[in-house]
Amino acid sequence: MILLTGGAGYIGSHVCIALLDAGFDVVVVDNLSNSNKASLERVQLICGRSLTFRQVDILDEEAIYETLCSYEVSAVIHLAGLKAVGESSIRPMTYYENNLLGSMRLVSAMNRASVKTLVFSSSATVYGVPTYLPLDEHHPLGPTNPYGRTKLFIEEMLKDLYRSDNDWRIGILRYFNPVGAHESGLIGEDPKGVPNNLLPFVAQVAIGKREKLRIWGNDYDTPDGTGIRDFIHVVDLASGHLSVLNSLKQPGLLTANFGTGNGSSVLDVVRTFEAVSGRSVPFEIDKRRIGDVAVCFADPTFAERVLGWRSVRSLEEMCADHWRWQCKCPDGYRGTNSEGR
Ligand code: NAD
Ligand code: UD1
Repeated sequence: MILLTGGAGYIGSHVCIALLDAGFDVVVVDNLSNSNKASLERVQLICGRSLTFRQVDILDEEAIYETLCSYEVSAVIHLAGLKAVGESSIRPMTYYENNLLGSMRLVSAMNRASVKTLVFSSSATVYGVPTYLPLDEHHPLGPTNPYGRTKLFIEEMLKDLYRSDNDWRIGILRYFNPVGAHESGLIGEDPKGVPNNLLPFVAQVAIGKREKLRIWGNDYDTPDGTGIRDFIHVVDLASGHLSVLNSLKQPGLLTANFGTGNGSSVLDVVRTFEAVSGRSVPFEIDKRRIGDVAVCFADPTFAERVLGWRSVRSLEEMCADHWRWQCKCPDGYRGTNSEGR
């Protein structure tokens, strides 16, 4: 049995599908602070298999301990966390409590239950401003916001844990920019309010929910002047978790980039989205967003060499799958039944 924290969320629901399809039994723990239980109903519909859901906060160590014991959990995939960069600067203590203290309590419960296999979702944001590209796992770390620092501190905590007890099997995954949705169009990213991230915003403009995209800066030192990111299809990202579980058969700690190695500019995304959707995405150029870097993309060769995993889906597929989800479930998980109608 695999325990998946944050499994009702965007990435978690896709990881759930990967696990169920691979034959694992799954217990999801999520406090639903940024998600909807309907995502898990749809996961079960897609897979034709059931999972167990417990509405539990990872800060509740006793409830986590009880879940680990009663479901005979063998490994934990830990995705639960708050992730809004801007909000983390306004409410840093909420982020430290939820992400850092939550991870400490989770690890403490795991220790007590002698469950010592853990996959943790970190972020490329731990690298901060790139000093060279592509970003490999040895690049210096220096996150520029409280959210990123919670990720860095959890990484350091897990490294100390492993140094103190070599029985642990720990995978630290640094996700780049997860986008897209499951090909069914039944699950996907369901941002509350105005989306912060590019793809959800572009999709809402394409469908007519928002008038136009604001492109934050076209004066970067890039071929078209707009920012460049390493977008990775969420289904590829999810399948990578299976490779990590597989490679943690022996004790050890590994840290891997989860990206494609390809950079796409904001304008590349806009044009690709227009092409796959057949809709126009009007935009205007605005000033740079504070905290943005010009270019960020991964060196994904470690994951390929050590885990035998790499992403395979193109930017076209990312946009097409995101668009299918946007059309099928224009209001996300609100106001639709579990068939997505
Ligand atoms: P999400 O918000 O959709 O999912 C996170 C889930 O965790 C939500 O379902 C939320 O309800 C749950 N959660 C939050 N705090 C909790 C708590 N204390 N107890 C129990 N459940 C809790 O976000 P996502 O995009 O699916 O991200 C998943 C993980 O991946 C996060 O840790 C995030 O920081 C990390 N990550 C995401 C991205 C990205 O761009 N989406 C990039 C890098 C890393
Ligand atoms: C953001 C987070 C980062 C996180 C990542 C993935 C910030 C400062 N950084 O980064 O910590 O790991 O998401 O969740 O928030 N853009 C526009 N208009 C928009 C939205 C985005 O032009 O309305 C541009 C941005 O300026 C950037 C690119 O699109 O150049 C991608 O933006 P976004 O999707 O927010 O991802 P990141 O900037 O990589």
